Amino acid sequence: MVEMPETQPEVPGPVDTSVSRLERGDTPFTFGQRNLVDEEQVWNHNAWDNVEWGEEQITEAEEKLVKQREAPVKPFDKKLFMSDPAKYWNQFYRNNRENFFKDRKWLRVEFPSLYEATRHDAGKRVILEVGCGAGNTMFPVLEANENPDLMITGVDFSNQAVKLVKESKSFDPKHAHAAVWDLAEPSGALPEGIEEHSVDIVVMIFVFSALAPDQWEQAVRNLKKLLKPDGEILFRDYGRYDLTQLRFKGGRLLDDNFYIRGDGTRVYFFTEEELEQIFGKEFEVAKIAADRRLLVNRLRKLKMYRIWMQARFVNRLE
Ligand SMILES: C[S@@+](CC[C@H](N)C(=O)[O-])C[C@H]1O[C@@H](n2cnc3c(N)ncnc32)[C@H](O)[C@@H]1O
Repeated sequence: MVEMPETQPEVPGPVDTSVSRLERGDTPFTFGQRNLVDEEQVWNHNAWDNVEWGEEQITEAEEKLVKQREAPVKPFDKKLFMSDPAKYWNQFYRNNRENFFKDRKWLRVEFPSLYEATRHDAGKRVILEVGCGAGNTMFPVLEANENPDLMITGVDFSNQAVKLVKESKSFDPKHAHAAVWDLAEPSGALPEGIEEHSVDIVVMIFVFSALAPDQWEQAVRNLKKLLKPDGEILFRDYGRYDLTQLRFKGGRLLDDNFYIRGDGTRVYFFTEEELEQIFGKEFEVAKIAADRRLLVNRLRKLKMYRIWMQARFVNRLE
C-alpha cells in the first residue's frame, strides 16, 4: 500500500491518533476534541482541532490568492497539463513505487459504514473506491473484512495505480477487484465489472480535487449511475485556504482555486457551498463539514493551518 510522499498530495486526514479517538468514542464529523481555548497555550501541543479563522486571517489568505491570479500558468503549459492528466499520475506512481503505506485509522471513526460492511453478517455489500491510488482505503477495509459477501473494487484512471493495487500482497481476488476508469468518463461507461445501480458505498478520498471544474457535472452523473438507491458517497478532499493552496507560488494557477503541482498533477480546493451545489443536484447532502486543524511546529514556532472537507451524500429515489 502506498503513502503519498510529502512533495505530493500528502493525502492528509485527521491526524492518525485515532486509536485513541476510537477508544474515546469520537463520532464522525467531529474531528477531534482538542480545541484551542487559550491562545497562550498554542505551543503546548502539536495539533489543535476545530480551529476557526478570524477576519484578518481570511483577508491575508485572499491577498495570497490575488497574487497567484497575477501570475497564472502560461497558456501553452495549461493546454499541456489539461490534455492528458492521467499521464502525470502514471509518472507519479512510477516514481514513487515504494513506501506508500499509510495506516488510516481515522477511516473507522469518520466513515463507520465502510466497516459495518465488513461484518460477517452484513450480507452482500459492494464498495467502490474511486481514485483508489495504491489502495489506501481498500486494503484496510479488506484486512478488516469478515463478510463472505463483500466485494470491494478500486478504480483509478492511472493504469500504474491499478497495477500497484493488483500486485499488492493484500489484494485478495476473492473480495477485491481493480480496474482503470475515469471518474469523469464522458461516455458514461461504467468501470469493468460494475453494473448500473449496483454499488452500496462509493469512497472518494482526495480524488474529486484532481478533476477540472468542467468535469464535475459528468462525474456526478457517472456516480449517480453507479449507486444503488440509498447508496452513499463518502467524501474527503482539500478545503479552501488549506495551507497547500496558500503556498502555491506564481505560474501554478490553472483557474480559480485550481492549480498544477510541480509534478504536473492538478488540485482544486473546495468550499462547503460548492460541494453542496455540485453534489446536491443529484444527491441528498446528508452532511458536509470542514475539518480545520492547526498543526504546530513547536521547535520552529510555525503554525500551519490545514483545511479538509468531509461529506456524505446519499442517493435518494426521486
Ligand atoms: C491524491 S491521489 C489519492 C489516492 C487515494 N484515494 C488515497 O487517498 O490515497 C488522487 C488519485 O486520483 C486519481 N485520479 C485523478 N483523476 C482521476 C479521474 N478523473 N478518474 C479516476 N481517478 C483519478 C489519481 O490517479 C490518483 O491515484
